[in-house]
Amino acid sequence: MEIIDTSAPIAVKDAKDVFETKSSFFDKMKTKIFPATHHTPAIKPYVFNETNLTRLILWAAAANLPADFFGAEMKRNMYVYGPTGCGKTRMAQAFAARTGRSLFRVQCSKETTLSDLFGSWKLCGKDQGMTWVYGKVCQWAMQANSILLLDEWDQVPADVAMGLNGILDGAPIHLDQTGEIIQIAQGCMIMATGNTNGRGSAGGQGGSAAIYKGTQKMNIANQDRFNVMFETYLSEEQEIALLVNLTKAPLLSAKAMASLAAKVRANFIGLNEDAGAGGMAFQFTITTRNVLNWAMNFNLLTQMGKKVEEAYIEALRMTVLDFAQKDEASAILATWSTIMGTPQTS
Ligand SMILES: Nc1ncnc2c1ncn2[C@@H]1O[C@H](COP(=O)(O)OP(=O)(O)OP(=O)(O)O)[C@@H](O)[C@H]1O
Ligand SMILES: [Mg+2]
Repeated sequence: MEIIDTSAPIAVKDAKDVFETKSSFFDKMKTKIFPATHHTPAIKPYVFNETNLTRLILWAAAANLPADFFGAEMKRNMYVYGPTGCGKTRMAQAFAARTGRSLFRVQCSKETTLSDLFGSWKLCGKDQGMTWVYGKVCQWAMQANSILLLDEWDQVPADVAMGLNGILDGAPIHLDQTGEIIQIAQGCMIMATGNTNGRGSAGGQGGSAAIYKGTQKMNIANQDRFNVMFETYLSEEQEIALLVNLTKAPLLSAKAMASLAAKVRANFIGLNEDAGAGGMAFQFTITTRNVLNWAMNFNLLTQMGKKVEEAYIEALRMTVLDFAQKDEASAILATWSTIMGTPQTS
């Protein structure tokens, strides 16, 4: 495996420019930029919120501290949880992209095994016999200042997750199959994501996890090794700006779409157990992913010749609304009519 030297930064830049934030909290902060490799993601638009960006910068700073900086060891792992489509995976990619770090992403599931993570023997070509192929965890450990992204970590069975406790503590990897010992390179960091807080709850206020199929209760000792961050949907204002910038939506359309998304989320049980207080709780939500897709489908439908009012509804149905139960869909369409100030048509 060819490894580019990423042990030293190639630049130190103002955090405000690197992360394109307007918050004055970051005025005096500097960020190290590392040499990019073919594992460094491309930069894509992402809006960081101040709290989470602060935690990301602290997390990265801790990973670069000399081992004896404090008497005690700092956690170098971050668990990010929050509702579907709010930008957790995108946040890890955005942070890696902007700081030049390599990102090794493992898409976890209840079938994930330790061989998927660390590596396995594979038959490579008929004359070459069996070759050891490193898993993402080993590739990450060999690349200085890189990020291991354990995506959907709350799907992984607890006994598999426990097999990672050593590397979560920064201990070298012992590969019994090859006899190799891999030291975790300097500055390496781990982020895990999930839809639940790992204790069977899905929202900051304790929303129901039952809607996220397959999620497991994390072993408490495994969870204890992570710092934690709750990520949620953007504010209505931020989402309007995103819609205008990324989907060519006119300002008035963007405002109406972001308003509907905010109203639906307020009733979404996966975000907040008190959802629907005084009204109905939804199993259904409009994610950031979907609000953006609604706007792009709307744009193309109007170009195809659909009337604007119909195009809004058809694009919403096609993007996500036809997944909803009938009563939820009617309630959402009624809310949309109120936002648009028109009588309900379908
Ligand atoms: N803060 C943001 N800035 C820009 N785009 C965003 C932001 N948050 C979400 N998005 C958009 O929403 C899409 C979905 O985000 P992402 O896949 O990261 O969600 P997720 O929280 O990981 O969802 P899941 O729990 O379903 O895996 C992204 O591809 C991006 O287009
Ligand atoms: Mg994700």
